[in-house]
Amino acid sequence: MTKLPPSSADHAFRLGDAALDLEHKGQLDLLLDIEAELRGSAQKDTLAASLDRLIEFTNLHFMSEQVMMRQQAYPGLPEHEAEHDELMEQMRDFQARIATGNRALCSTDLATLHDWVLRHICTKDAAFADYMARQNASTEAGQGAA
Ligand SMILES: [Fe+2]
Ligand SMILES: [Fe+2]
Repeated sequence: MTKLPPSSADHAFRLGDAALDLEHKGQLDLLLDIEAELRGSAQKDTLAASLDRLIEFTNLHFMSEQVMMRQQAYPGLPEHEAEHDELMEQMRDFQARIATGNRALCSTDLATLHDWVLRHICTKDAAFADYMARQNASTEAGQGAA
């Protein structure tokens, strides 16, 4: 199971794109908050509100990433979009389980969800960040040659 550092600001899942890195930090920090709440004595209402924030933030982040991909004509968009949809479904499933499930089970589920998000950032989002960097490099090279 992946163990997240206390702050996600300065670690390997930074992809080198300021906007993406900032949004990923927000997403991972929200997950850390929920983990801390689950370990602590947070009430169901508090957890539900935190999950609402995570889901809303993640949805906005995924939409903004997909807009960037369309703007860059990213060929991996359909596959990436499908994984976003799957992650949103996992988050909504978790939200439903936390409303009824036991806390220990929810902690395991949340750790799994956290791993999914990290894996997505380190693989699928990293591939898109590489693509953007290559596109920018070739645009700059083209401008240099003009
Ligand atoms: Fe992302
Ligand atoms: Fe993504």
